[in-house]
This record gives sequence, C-alpha cells and structure tokens, in this order.
Amino acid sequence: MKLTIVAATGGIGRQLLEQAVAAGHDVTAVVRNPKNLPPTPARVVSADLASADAAALQSAADGADAVLSALGARTKADAGVAARGTKAMTEAMRVAGVRRIIVVSAAPIGTVPSPGRPHPPRHDPGDGFIIRYLADPIVKRALREHYVDLARMEDVLRGSDLDWTVIRPPRLTSKPVTGKYRTAYGQNIRRGAFVSRADVARYMLWAVDRGETFQQTVGIAN
Ligand SMILES: NC(=O)c1ccc[n+]([C@@H]2O[C@H](COP(=O)([O-])OP(=O)(O)OC[C@H]3O[C@@H](n4cnc5c(N)ncnc54)[C@H](OP(=O)(O)O)[C@@H]3O)[C@@H](O)[C@H]2O)c1
Repeated sequence: MKLTIVAATGGIGRQLLEQAVAAGHDVTAVVRNPKNLPPTPARVVSADLASADAAALQSAADGADAVLSALGARTKADAGVAARGTKAMTEAMRVAGVRRIIVVSAAPIGTVPSPGRPHPPRHDPGDGFIIRYLADPIVKRALREHYVDLARMEDVLRGSDLDWTVIRPPRLTSKPVTGKYRTAYGQNIRRGAFVSRADVARYMLWAVDRGETFQQTVGIAN
C-alpha cells in the first residue's frame, strides 16, 4: 500500500515508519526536521504542522491509500499542533482525494470536553476505580493543554466525512513489538495501563484497510 506517515520522527512515528517499510509498503514520511530521521527508503516531505504549507501536505497525501499520524506536542511550544496539524492534513487529503486516516489520541480523551463534544461521559466504561478517581484527575490537571489539543483533534475527524480511526492508548512504553494487545471500540481497556509504541504502530498498520475500524475510537493495551 501507499502510506503517508505524519510525525515519523516521534516514538510511534518511527515505529510506523520502520514497520511499514519492513512490510514492503511505499511510504512517504512527513516530518518537520528530516535530520532527525534514520536512513530510510521512504520519500520525505518536510513540513511544520503548526503552520504547514498546503501544497507540501497535498504532495505528501497525493496517491496515498491512507494517512497514519502520531502527531502530538513534544513541548509547550508545540501546544495545539495535534488539532491544527490534523486539520491541515485532512484538508490536504480532501484535495488529494484520500479518505483513510488513523491518528493517535490518548486514553483519557473520551471524558475530556471539547467544542464538538461539550458533554462527554464522566467516566470511561473501561476505567476502574483507581484510574477514575485517583490517576485521571491528576494526569488531566498536569496535561490539560495537551488533552484539550487531542480532544480538538478528535473533533476535526468526527466533523469530517473521512474514514477515520482514533487510537486512544494509555501510558506508552518503548518495549518491542509483541502483537499481543487487547483492543475495544469506544472505550478503554480494563486493567490496561500500558501499551508499547511498537504495538500501537502495529495495530495502526493492521487497521488501515479494516472497514470495521472506520469511524471508531479504539482503546488498546498490552
Ligand atoms: N507518552 C505517553 O505515555 C502517551 C500516552 C498516550 C498518548 N500519548 C500521545 O500519543 C501521541 C504519540 O506519542 P509519541 O510518544 O509517539 O510522541 P512523540 O515521540 O512526542 O512524537 C510527537 C511527534 O509529533 C511531531 N511534532 C510535534 N510538533 C510538530 C510540528 N509543529 N510539526 C511537525 N511535527 C511535529 C514531533 O516531531 P519532532 O520529532 O520534530 O519533535 C514527533 O514526531 C502523542 O500525541 C502523545 O501525546 C502519549
């Protein structure tokens, strides 16, 4: 398949790139700093997703079967990039006639209000007592800006007519790929506190052409 990987220099992005190339896909990597990429046979498009050049993104999306994105703020200076960059990417996809996109969000986002979803459920059905009442409130306070950005990114996709999938992982690890993970549509995974970036990438590549994952948010955990 022809895949466009956005933020291919990140933790999940590097895994997506490596696994997609190893599987024989024809890959275009969209990165803000090509120097941070390992040597790769992928076509590389340079773009700062905070203020992306529409023509560059259209050329990155042109002819793709799918766009896979692990875009997210690395620092405070990147705040808002997930929503803004995803919006720019979906506009480029529309012009290029590409319909399929998979993005990475985060497990707590199902309960984070956003303009498109002002009254989300108070609790995610997959979260147990500790996550609901102890971990979530602390993490949400610490990462408030980041989570608002991811919630708005999800709004962008829900408001589009694309074949989107949103992945909501819990705490990410750098462990190797196992292929042993649990997934659930529309909720987090009970007692699923961790998942490796490698396994998230593996699932995203698996899901590319699975119609049952279209218009779904997916909880995932090892
Ligand atoms: N850490 C966790 O435990 C956890 C848990 C759940 C969900 N998540 C979310 O999962 C997503 C992916 O995680 P990760 O560990 O792969 O993230 P990461 O390593 O921080 O990667 C973020 C990627 O976004 C890119 N990026 C940021 N601002 C950009 C801009 N203006 N233009 C172009 N690219 C830009 C970064 O590029 P550079 O390489 O150039 O910086 C990098 O490739 C993030 O949104 C994260 O919040 C994280």
